[in-house]
Amino acid sequence: MVKPFIIGTVNARDFLHIGKEILRRGGSALDAVEATVNAVENNPMDTSVGLGGIPNMLGVVQLDASIMDGRTLKTGAVAAVENYVNVISIARKVMENSPHVLLVGKGAELFAEMMGFKKSELLTEKSRTIYKAFLEDSLDKLDERFSEKGYIIDYIKNFDLREWYSKLADDYHGTVNVMAMDDRGDVCSGVSTSGTALKFPGRVGDSPIIGAGNYCDNRVGAAACTGRGELAIRLSTARTIVSYMDNGLKVKDACIKAMRDINSLKELGGMNCLAFDKHGETFSASTTRVSVHYYMDVDSDEPEERQGETVRD
Ligand code: GLY
Repeated sequence: MVKPFIIGTVNARDFLHIGKEILRRGGSALDAVEATVNAVENNPMDTSVGLGGIPNMLGVVQLDASIMDGRTLKTGAVAAVENYVNVISIARKVMENSPHVLLVGKGAELFAEMMGFKKSELLTEKSRTIYKAFLEDSLDKLDERFSEKGYIIDYIKNFDLREWYSKLADDYHGTVNVMAMDDRGDVCSGVSTSGTALKFPGRVGDSPIIGAGNYCDNRVGAAACTGRGELAIRLSTARTIVSYMDNGLKVKDACIKAMRDINSLKELGGMNCLAFDKHGETFSASTTRVSVHYYMDVDSDEPEERQGETVRD
C-alpha cells in the first residue's frame, strides 16, 4: 500500500499542504488536487494561472483547465473561460454534472453560471502593467518585481509577436500541475493555466486537452505537462508518458523518452512533464530547464524538493 501523497510543480509548492491535509484526513485524491489547484488559481502573484494570469493579445484573461479521475477514467475540462477564477472546479463539474468532457468559451461560462460559480475580475495591477508594457514595447524597462519579463521578451522575439500583433492587434508559459494518490489507491491529475502570455484570442493549449497536458489511470499512474502546449498536443505527451509506463518503462525513463519525443520535433519552445507511477515513484523532466517538482505525503511537514532531469537531445 502506497502512503497517500501529492505532487506539484513549483508554483504549487506552497499550497501542497492543503491537499496533503485532505489526504491525511482520508479525503479523495480528487478533492486534494482540486483544493490545491484552487489555491494556486487564487494566488494573484502567479502570472500563469487564474487570478493575475497574463492576458491574451487583446488584454483579456482566458483560462484553461482539466481534471481526471484515474479510477473511472472520467475527465472534465474547460477552455478559453473568461471572468471565472476557479476553472479546475468548473472542469470538475463538467466531469461530474454533465455528459460532456470539454466545454469552451461562452458555453463553458454559461455552464459555470448554471453551476453557481461567481464571476470575478482576473486582471491584477501586475498583469495589467505587463500587458501595457507589451503594448508600449517597454517590457525591458520593468523592474525586478516583473521576473516574467525575460520569458516574455524572448517569446515576442522568437515568435515575431509584434508582427502578429500589428496584423490584428503571445510567451511565458506557466501552468500548474498537481497530482495525488489517496488511501484507496485512487489517483487524480489536475492542470490549470492562463496559457501562453499574450496568446492569440481563442488559442487553447494542452492543459484542457486530455491526453496532451493531463492524463491518469489508477492501474498505471499519472502525468501532466507545462510548457509550449502546442507540442504536447501534437504528441499527446501526458497520455504517452502513462502508456510508456504501462508498457514497462520506469517513470523516470517514460518522462525522459517523452521529452526526447518533444525534442525530435525540432520546434521552438520548451516542454516540461511531471509524473508518478502506481508505486508512488515520482519524476519530472524538461527540455529546457533544471527540472524540479515538489512532494508531500501524509506524514510530511514540508514539501520535499525532488530533482528531475533536463533532456536536451
Ligand atoms: N502548457 C500551457 C499552455 O500551453 O497553454
